Amino acid sequence: MSTFIRLDSAGCTAIWETSDSEAPLWRYWGPRLSDGVLPPKQLRETRTEPTFSLHFDQPLSIFPVLGMGWFGQTALLAHRDGADWAHAITRCEVQSVDHGVIFHLHDDVARLFIAIHATLDPETDVLRLSTKLRNDGETTLDIQSLAAGNLPLPDNAQSVRSFGGRHNGEFVPIDDVLSRSLWRRENRRGLTSHDCFPGAVVTCSDGVAFGAQLAWSGNHFQQIEWIDDGRWHWQFGEWLAPREVRLDAGESIDTPDLLATCSAEGADGVAWAFHREIRKGVQWPGGAMKPRPVHLNTWEGFYFDHDLDALKQLADAAAEIGVERFVLDDGWFHGRNDDTSSLGDWWPDLQKYPDGLAPLASHVTGLGMEFGLWVEPEMVNPDSDLFRAHPDWVLQISGRPLLTARNQLVLDMRREEVRDYLYHQIAPLLETLPISYLKWDHNRDLTHAGNHAGYREQTLGAYALFQRFRETFPDVEIEACAGGGGRIDAGISRFTHRFWTSDNIDAVSRVSIQRGFLQFMPPELMGSHVGASPAHGTGRRQSMAFRSAVARTGHFGIEFDLRKISDKDKARLAQSIADYKQSRDLIHQGRCWTGDAADGVSWTAFGDPADLMVQVLRVSAPSFRFPPPLRLPMVHRDRNYRIDINGQPGTSMQGGWIARSGLPLPRMNAETALWIILKAE
Ligand code: DGJ
Repeated sequence: MSTFIRLDSAGCTAIWETSDSEAPLWRYWGPRLSDGVLPPKQLRETRTEPTFSLHFDQPLSIFPVLGMGWFGQTALLAHRDGADWAHAITRCEVQSVDHGVIFHLHDDVARLFIAIHATLDPETDVLRLSTKLRNDGETTLDIQSLAAGNLPLPDNAQSVRSFGGRHNGEFVPIDDVLSRSLWRRENRRGLTSHDCFPGAVVTCSDGVAFGAQLAWSGNHFQQIEWIDDGRWHWQFGEWLAPREVRLDAGESIDTPDLLATCSAEGADGVAWAFHREIRKGVQWPGGAMKPRPVHLNTWEGFYFDHDLDALKQLADAAAEIGVERFVLDDGWFHGRNDDTSSLGDWWPDLQKYPDGLAPLASHVTGLGMEFGLWVEPEMVNPDSDLFRAHPDWVLQISGRPLLTARNQLVLDMRREEVRDYLYHQIAPLLETLPISYLKWDHNRDLTHAGNHAGYREQTLGAYALFQRFRETFPDVEIEACAGGGGRIDAGISRFTHRFWTSDNIDAVSRVSIQRGFLQFMPPELMGSHVGASPAHGTGRRQSMAFRSAVARTGHFGIEFDLRKISDKDKARLAQSIADYKQSRDLIHQGRCWTGDAADGVSWTAFGDPADLMVQVLRVSAPSFRFPPPLRLPMVHRDRNYRIDINGQPGTSMQGGWIARSGLPLPRMNAETALWIILKAE
């Protein structure tokens, strides 16, 4: 006997066909169906048997497995010393939970128990899937691969946008047309990576878009494979190294969560669902987000060259123009004069700070700003007291050389004594100084993660340390950084409050980097700074107006030596800070949409369809004689709008005209921004 299980949110519906002797079959995942709509028949009643095919039809299930008639990619690859490599679900029980179900699946032959947790959040439109696998046999089970979640995509899915990149160049969009070939992205760098964001957006021919992202900060894969009924199978999971996971009798493993959504409004609707979901998960000090304070970060202004008097002057200059948080970056700790030494020795450098950090911290807080500190707990330099005392604490493989990157090695976060050491080095700073913010960096990829591959355990070890700091210091916010955007994901966002989006602060580069970020993460978590001109990452020069406009669409900050700018630039920056403070609630709490007009003009809109603030950016010089119109799809088509451009009260226009024909734009030069306010009358 089959039954249908249907979950709904405001915008999405998921339907499975369950029976008590197989894994639930995927019947529908897509935009919300009207109340009461269910599949007219059981799936197999609607499918004729193809020639030369198995008599028992095996459609896509929520847990497709190998060896018993499913020929596509499988949710599990595992064996017991070569045996029990073929699997089939023999029993299925369904348990209802808030907004979802847990499917309890048993393979009574291979002695496996699988629990798939599926919830569809009615407020965010995000379907969360996760998988637990328990070894119910008496011998060890070797896991080669275990998917976090398996999703269907409809037969009109056409293309997939994933994101690649590198340090200084995150969120490069990669557009691929879906075909009958397997599409697959893998990350084996040991942390989320700059190169391969663990998510993607699939677009269908009718404009519906599907999005998914894995909440995990380690290795990962995703793949899309065409299946015989014309649909596609989208799967996400951790990428596991050989023998990385073995389960002894009775042991189990839990996958990270897979977050999935879909929207008839395309990629923007997908972004909105993810923003709402990530927002819900962030654990803010005090239980609610306070207005995101204007940052000053010392890195590009000072690098390792810390001089107490200069830093105090910097703090004075920052406070004067409205900065609210001063973050002391790398260079403050014992012996750290360049990037060749000292990671691991987490006490103040007494040459630079003879009386410790208290004089600077209290100077900063005395000016009314918060004080934040940079750390990179998971790392150690060979030239450090820590490494000299505990060379065995780094991730290594016997007989293999240690491989450095940025002159550093990675501590073995699987070891409790390592995590304890780090905690007991850094906690006293938080206990004795007025530190309300940690910037937590991770500046290299993992290579040989232990004699027995331990990428996954390394990630869990890092999470445990994050958690310990969060529990003991719940009022301290944490910024996730990994050489810029190497650890941006929904897994780390449970412990952190901001991402450092990229080390590339060049405003032109930032336009596309930030746009990619906003596909998956909300603007209040997007660290975006005004850097120096020329930009350190690219050597390009941009005006203060353009740099500060680009930074204003995220969590605003400054990262250069403020003491060295002209009065004119200082006044411009102070104005941008004031504007940011005025608009941050709108940007950080409402919805955002992104899009392109013609001829290289892009835009981001914030707020609500009746009350919008739109930033229009032109990066390169126009090639059209006349500026392109700005079409905004979200406006109410039956209402009239008052429109201000750059603070100048302008015209009024019908929403239908703005949506379909577009708002005429004034001429814009390269590297300029416009701000447009639209209010429905
Ligand atoms: C990489 C980060 O992304 C930078 O912002 C800075 O904190 C440096 N590390 C410090 O070493």
